[in-house]
Amino acid sequence: MNQTTPAHLQGPRLRASAPTNAAYHTLSVRRLTPILGAEIDGVDLSQPLSDEQFQEVGRALADHQVIFFRDQHPTPEQHLAFGQRFGHLHRHPAAPHAPGLPDLMIIQADEHSPRANGEVWHSDVSCDAEPPMGSILYIHTCPPEGGDTLFASMYAAYDALSERMKRYLNGLTAVHDGEHVYRGTYANLGVQDKPTYPRSVHPVVRTHPVTGKQALYVNRGFTTQIAGIPADESDAMLRYLFEHMENPLFQCRFRWQAHSVAFWDNRCVQHRAMWDYWPNLRSGFRVTVKGDAPFYTPQTEIMTA
Ligand code: SIN
Repeated sequence: MNQTTPAHLQGPRLRASAPTNAAYHTLSVRRLTPILGAEIDGVDLSQPLSDEQFQEVGRALADHQVIFFRDQHPTPEQHLAFGQRFGHLHRHPAAPHAPGLPDLMIIQADEHSPRANGEVWHSDVSCDAEPPMGSILYIHTCPPEGGDTLFASMYAAYDALSERMKRYLNGLTAVHDGEHVYRGTYANLGVQDKPTYPRSVHPVVRTHPVTGKQALYVNRGFTTQIAGIPADESDAMLRYLFEHMENPLFQCRFRWQAHSVAFWDNRCVQHRAMWDYWPNLRSGFRVTVKGDAPFYTPQTEIMTA
Protein backbone atom coordinates (compact mmCIF):
# COMPACT_ATOMS: atom_id res chain seq x y z
CA MET A 1 0.00 0.00 0.00
CA ASN A 2 1.34 3.44 -0.94
CA GLN A 3 1.45 5.45 2.31
CA THR A 4 0.80 8.78 0.56
CA THR A 5 -2.30 7.77 -1.45
CA PRO A 6 -5.53 8.87 0.27
CA ALA A 7 -7.35 5.95 1.91
CA HIS A 8 -10.38 6.20 -0.41
CA LEU A 9 -8.17 5.90 -3.51
CA GLN A 10 -6.24 2.81 -2.52
CA GLY A 11 -8.36 0.30 -4.44
CA PRO A 12 -10.57 -2.44 -3.06
CA ARG A 13 -10.39 -3.31 0.60
CA LEU A 14 -10.35 -6.97 -0.36
CA ARG A 15 -8.53 -8.18 -3.46
CA ALA A 16 -10.27 -11.52 -3.67
CA SER A 17 -10.75 -13.01 -7.09
CA ALA A 18 -13.23 -15.85 -7.29
CA PRO A 19 -11.26 -19.10 -7.17
CA THR A 20 -11.34 -21.30 -10.24
CA ASN A 21 -12.60 -24.54 -8.82
CA ALA A 22 -12.10 -27.91 -10.45
CA ALA A 23 -15.15 -29.08 -12.41
CA TYR A 24 -17.93 -30.98 -10.64
CA HIS A 25 -19.37 -34.11 -12.21
CA THR A 26 -22.54 -34.69 -10.20
CA LEU A 27 -23.50 -31.08 -9.35
CA SER A 28 -23.96 -27.77 -11.05
CA VAL A 29 -22.76 -24.82 -9.01
CA ARG A 30 -23.78 -21.17 -9.41
CA ARG A 31 -21.92 -18.63 -7.30
CA LEU A 32 -23.83 -15.92 -5.42
CA THR A 33 -20.81 -13.60 -5.10
CA PRO A 34 -17.09 -13.97 -5.90
CA ILE A 35 -16.48 -14.24 -2.14
CA LEU A 36 -19.00 -16.75 -0.78
CA GLY A 37 -22.17 -18.67 -1.41
CA ALA A 38 -23.31 -20.93 -4.24
CA GLU A 39 -26.56 -22.53 -5.35
CA ILE A 40 -26.24 -26.21 -6.09
CA ASP A 41 -28.35 -28.21 -8.55
CA GLY A 42 -28.31 -31.90 -9.19
CA VAL A 43 -28.80 -33.31 -5.67
CA ASP A 44 -31.98 -34.67 -4.14
CA LEU A 45 -31.52 -34.46 -0.38
CA SER A 46 -34.31 -36.96 0.21
CA GLN A 47 -32.14 -39.69 -1.34
CA PRO A 48 -28.89 -41.13 0.01
CA LEU A 49 -25.89 -39.40 -1.59
CA SER A 50 -23.60 -41.48 -3.78
CA ASP A 51 -19.96 -41.38 -2.69
CA GLU A 52 -19.16 -39.02 -5.55
CA GLN A 53 -22.06 -36.70 -4.68
CA PHE A 54 -21.00 -36.73 -1.04
CA GLN A 55 -17.42 -35.87 -1.98
CA GLU A 56 -18.57 -33.07 -4.33
CA VAL A 57 -21.05 -31.54 -1.87
CA GLY A 58 -18.22 -31.47 0.70
CA ARG A 59 -15.93 -29.87 -1.88
CA ALA A 60 -18.59 -27.29 -2.81
CA LEU A 61 -18.93 -26.40 0.88
CA ALA A 62 -15.16 -25.98 1.19
CA ASP A 63 -15.05 -23.92 -2.03
CA HIS A 64 -18.04 -21.63 -1.26
CA GLN A 65 -18.45 -21.74 2.56
CA VAL A 66 -22.26 -21.79 2.32
CA ILE A 67 -24.27 -23.71 -0.26
CA PHE A 68 -27.96 -23.62 -1.12
CA PHE A 69 -30.35 -26.19 -2.54
CA ARG A 70 -33.84 -25.44 -3.94
CA ASP A 71 -36.95 -27.60 -4.25
CA GLN A 72 -36.00 -30.11 -1.59
CA HIS A 73 -38.52 -32.24 0.31
CA PRO A 74 -36.58 -34.26 2.89
CA THR A 75 -38.52 -35.94 5.68
CA PRO A 76 -37.07 -35.33 9.16
CA GLU A 77 -35.29 -38.71 8.97
CA GLN A 78 -33.84 -37.93 5.52
CA HIS A 79 -32.69 -34.51 6.71
CA LEU A 80 -30.95 -36.16 9.68
CA ALA A 81 -29.42 -38.82 7.40
CA PHE A 82 -28.01 -36.12 5.08
CA GLY A 83 -26.36 -34.45 8.09
CA GLN A 84 -24.98 -37.79 9.32
CA ARG A 85 -23.06 -38.26 6.06
CA PHE A 86 -20.91 -35.32 7.20
CA GLY A 87 -20.30 -36.39 10.80
CA HIS A 88 -21.90 -37.05 14.15
CA LEU A 89 -24.83 -34.78 14.89
CA HIS A 90 -24.64 -31.96 17.39
CA ARG A 91 -27.39 -31.57 19.96
CA HIS A 92 -28.31 -27.98 20.76
CA PRO A 93 -27.78 -27.08 24.45
CA ALA A 94 -31.05 -25.15 24.74
CA ALA A 95 -33.30 -24.93 21.68
CA PRO A 96 -36.45 -27.03 21.26
CA HIS A 97 -36.43 -30.01 18.92
CA ALA A 98 -39.00 -32.02 16.99
CA PRO A 99 -40.90 -34.55 19.17
CA GLY A 100 -38.79 -37.70 19.59
CA LEU A 101 -35.97 -36.31 17.40
CA PRO A 102 -33.53 -34.50 19.72
CA ASP A 103 -31.11 -33.68 16.88
CA LEU A 104 -33.75 -31.95 14.76
CA MET A 105 -33.88 -28.36 16.01
CA ILE A 106 -37.05 -26.38 15.36
CA ILE A 107 -36.58 -23.00 13.68
CA GLN A 108 -39.87 -21.13 13.72
CA ALA A 109 -41.26 -17.64 14.22
CA ASP A 110 -44.84 -16.44 13.92
CA GLU A 111 -47.11 -13.69 15.19
CA HIS A 112 -46.81 -14.91 18.82
CA SER A 113 -43.03 -15.24 18.93
CA PRO A 114 -41.13 -12.99 21.34
CA ARG A 115 -37.98 -13.54 19.25
CA ALA A 116 -36.66 -15.33 16.18
CA ASN A 117 -33.53 -17.48 16.02
CA GLY A 118 -30.27 -15.99 14.88
CA GLU A 119 -31.03 -12.28 14.79
CA VAL A 120 -27.49 -11.39 15.88
CA TRP A 121 -24.40 -12.20 13.78
CA HIS A 122 -22.96 -15.46 15.08
CA SER A 123 -21.34 -18.79 14.38
CA ASP A 124 -23.58 -21.55 15.75
CA VAL A 125 -22.99 -22.54 19.38
CA SER A 126 -19.43 -21.20 19.38
CA CYS A 127 -19.63 -21.42 23.20
CA ASP A 128 -19.18 -25.22 22.91
CA ALA A 129 -15.70 -26.64 23.43
CA GLU A 130 -16.10 -28.37 20.06
CA PRO A 131 -18.47 -26.06 18.16
CA PRO A 132 -20.50 -27.36 15.21
CA MET A 133 -18.67 -27.63 11.91
CA GLY A 134 -21.81 -27.16 9.83
CA SER A 135 -25.51 -26.41 10.01
CA ILE A 136 -28.15 -27.60 7.54
CA LEU A 137 -31.30 -25.51 7.65
CA TYR A 138 -34.42 -26.67 5.79
CA ILE A 139 -37.17 -24.04 5.55
CA HIS A 140 -40.46 -25.57 4.43
CA THR A 141 -42.75 -22.61 5.10
CA CYS A 142 -41.83 -19.07 4.06
CA PRO A 143 -43.47 -15.71 4.58
CA PRO A 144 -44.75 -14.04 1.38
CA GLU A 145 -41.61 -11.93 1.44
CA GLY A 146 -38.69 -11.35 3.82
CA GLY A 147 -37.05 -13.83 6.18
CA ASP A 148 -33.73 -13.80 4.30
CA THR A 149 -30.55 -15.06 5.94
CA LEU A 150 -27.29 -13.12 5.59
CA PHE A 151 -23.95 -14.92 5.57
CA ALA A 152 -20.48 -13.41 5.95
CA SER A 153 -17.14 -14.94 5.05
CA MET A 154 -14.70 -14.89 7.94
CA TYR A 155 -11.87 -15.76 5.53
CA ALA A 156 -12.62 -12.51 3.70
CA ALA A 157 -12.94 -10.58 6.98
CA TYR A 158 -9.53 -11.90 8.05
CA ASP A 159 -7.89 -11.30 4.65
CA ALA A 160 -9.09 -7.68 4.59
CA LEU A 161 -7.32 -6.84 7.88
CA SER A 162 -4.02 -5.00 7.71
CA GLU A 163 -0.89 -7.12 8.21
CA ARG A 164 -0.31 -5.25 11.49
CA MET A 165 -3.76 -6.16 12.76
CA LYS A 166 -3.29 -9.79 11.72
CA ARG A 167 -0.04 -9.91 13.69
CA TYR A 168 -1.80 -8.44 16.73
CA LEU A 169 -4.66 -10.95 16.60
CA ASN A 170 -2.82 -14.11 15.64
CA GLY A 171 -2.38 -16.32 18.68
CA LEU A 172 -4.89 -14.47 20.90
CA THR A 173 -7.82 -16.35 22.40
CA ALA A 174 -11.32 -15.21 23.36
CA VAL A 175 -14.13 -16.32 25.66
CA HIS A 176 -17.39 -17.54 24.05
CA ASP A 177 -20.25 -17.72 26.54
CA GLY A 178 -23.68 -19.34 26.13
CA GLU A 179 -25.16 -18.07 29.42
CA HIS A 180 -26.45 -14.67 28.24
CA VAL A 181 -27.57 -16.18 24.92
CA TYR A 182 -29.59 -19.15 26.18
CA ARG A 183 -30.86 -18.45 29.72
CA GLY A 184 -34.61 -17.87 29.52
CA THR A 185 -34.54 -17.66 25.73
CA TYR A 186 -36.91 -20.55 25.06
CA ALA A 187 -39.09 -20.18 28.18
CA ASN A 188 -42.13 -19.23 26.07
CA LEU A 189 -41.85 -22.64 24.38
CA GLY A 190 -41.83 -24.46 27.72
CA VAL A 191 -38.07 -25.15 27.74
CA GLN A 192 -36.63 -25.23 31.28
CA ASP A 193 -33.23 -23.67 31.77
CA LYS A 194 -30.21 -25.85 32.51
CA PRO A 195 -28.12 -25.07 35.61
CA THR A 196 -25.28 -23.90 33.36
CA TYR A 197 -24.60 -23.28 29.69
CA PRO A 198 -21.33 -23.89 27.82
CA ARG A 199 -18.46 -21.44 27.99
CA SER A 200 -15.20 -21.96 26.08
CA VAL A 201 -12.02 -20.24 25.06
CA HIS A 202 -11.11 -20.34 21.35
CA PRO A 203 -8.47 -18.75 19.13
CA VAL A 204 -9.46 -15.33 17.75
CA VAL A 205 -8.12 -16.48 14.38
CA ARG A 206 -8.72 -20.13 13.57
CA THR A 207 -7.16 -22.27 10.91
CA HIS A 208 -9.73 -24.18 8.90
CA PRO A 209 -8.96 -27.90 9.23
CA VAL A 210 -9.92 -28.67 5.61
CA THR A 211 -8.77 -25.64 3.59
CA GLY A 212 -5.89 -24.52 5.83
CA LYS A 213 -7.11 -20.90 5.48
CA GLN A 214 -7.27 -18.46 8.39
CA ALA A 215 -10.69 -17.18 9.52
CA LEU A 216 -11.70 -14.64 12.14
CA TYR A 217 -13.48 -16.52 14.92
CA VAL A 218 -15.13 -14.02 17.26
CA ASN A 219 -18.80 -13.14 16.97
CA ARG A 220 -21.26 -10.64 18.40
CA GLY A 221 -23.55 -13.40 19.69
CA PHE A 222 -21.22 -15.34 21.95
CA THR A 223 -17.80 -13.69 22.27
CA THR A 224 -17.55 -11.67 25.46
CA GLN A 225 -13.85 -11.03 25.99
CA ILE A 226 -10.40 -11.39 24.46
CA ALA A 227 -8.23 -13.19 26.99
CA GLY A 228 -4.99 -11.82 28.39
CA ILE A 229 -5.47 -8.13 27.57
CA PRO A 230 -7.10 -5.36 29.66
CA ALA A 231 -10.92 -5.27 29.60
CA ASP A 232 -11.10 -1.85 27.94
CA GLU A 233 -8.72 -2.96 25.21
CA SER A 234 -10.71 -6.17 24.72
CA ASP A 235 -14.00 -4.22 24.50
CA ALA A 236 -12.55 -1.81 21.94
CA MET A 237 -10.99 -4.59 19.88
CA LEU A 238 -14.17 -6.68 19.83
CA ARG A 239 -16.20 -3.61 18.88
CA TYR A 240 -13.83 -2.99 15.98
CA LEU A 241 -13.82 -6.64 14.85
CA PHE A 242 -17.61 -6.99 15.02
CA GLU A 243 -18.04 -3.85 12.94
CA HIS A 244 -15.33 -4.93 10.51
CA MET A 245 -16.72 -8.42 9.95
CA GLU A 246 -20.19 -7.03 9.29
CA ASN A 247 -18.96 -5.12 6.21
CA PRO A 248 -21.39 -6.03 3.38
CA LEU A 249 -18.34 -6.70 1.20
CA PHE A 250 -17.92 -10.05 2.93
CA GLN A 251 -21.60 -11.00 2.73
CA CYS A 252 -24.15 -12.76 0.62
CA ARG A 253 -27.88 -12.77 1.29
CA PHE A 254 -30.05 -15.79 0.67
CA ARG A 255 -33.66 -15.32 -0.35
CA TRP A 256 -35.54 -18.38 0.80
CA GLN A 257 -38.34 -20.06 -1.08
CA ALA A 258 -40.39 -22.80 0.57
CA HIS A 259 -38.38 -26.05 0.51
CA SER A 260 -34.93 -24.54 0.26
CA VAL A 261 -31.93 -25.81 2.24
CA ALA A 262 -28.84 -23.87 3.32
CA PHE A 263 -25.71 -25.70 4.47
CA TRP A 264 -23.11 -23.43 6.03
CA ASP A 265 -19.65 -24.01 7.44
CA ASN A 266 -19.55 -22.47 10.93
CA ARG A 267 -15.76 -22.59 10.93
CA CYS A 268 -15.47 -19.83 8.33
CA VAL A 269 -18.93 -18.23 8.08
CA GLN A 270 -21.16 -16.19 10.36
CA HIS A 271 -24.84 -15.68 9.70
CA ARG A 272 -27.73 -13.50 10.73
CA ALA A 273 -31.45 -14.10 10.20
CA MET A 274 -33.83 -11.25 9.32
CA TRP A 275 -37.10 -11.16 11.27
CA ASP A 276 -38.80 -8.67 8.99
CA TYR A 277 -41.85 -10.83 8.21
CA TRP A 278 -43.91 -10.55 11.41
CA PRO A 279 -46.77 -11.51 11.78
CA ASN A 280 -46.20 -14.16 9.11
CA LEU A 281 -44.94 -17.68 9.71
CA ARG A 282 -41.47 -18.92 8.77
CA SER A 283 -40.79 -22.49 9.77
CA GLY A 284 -38.31 -25.31 9.32
CA PHE A 285 -35.74 -27.58 10.93
CA ARG A 286 -32.00 -27.43 11.46
CA VAL A 287 -29.62 -30.37 11.62
CA THR A 288 -26.21 -29.48 12.99
CA VAL A 289 -23.01 -31.45 12.44
CA LYS A 290 -20.41 -31.73 15.21
CA GLY A 291 -17.01 -30.11 14.78
CA ASP A 292 -13.60 -30.18 16.45
CA ALA A 293 -11.93 -27.84 18.90
CA PRO A 294 -10.82 -24.75 16.92
CA PHE A 295 -7.04 -24.37 16.54
CA TYR A 296 -4.66 -21.81 15.16
CA THR A 297 -1.62 -22.67 13.07
CA PRO A 298 0.71 -19.73 12.38
CA GLN A 299 1.46 -19.01 8.76
CA THR A 300 5.08 -18.16 8.10
CA GLU A 301 4.49 -15.06 5.97
CA ILE A 302 2.45 -13.46 8.78
CA MET A 303 4.91 -14.36 11.52
CA THR A 304 7.87 -12.94 9.61
CA ALA A 305 6.15 -9.98 7.91
C1 SIN B 1 -29.98 -19.93 12.83
O1 SIN B 1 -29.25 -19.12 13.39
O2 SIN B 1 -29.71 -21.11 12.71
C2 SIN B 1 -31.28 -19.43 12.17
C3 SIN B 1 -31.02 -18.96 10.80
C4 SIN B 1 -32.30 -18.63 10.07
O3 SIN B 1 -33.39 -18.86 10.61
O4 SIN B 1 -32.20 -18.15 8.95
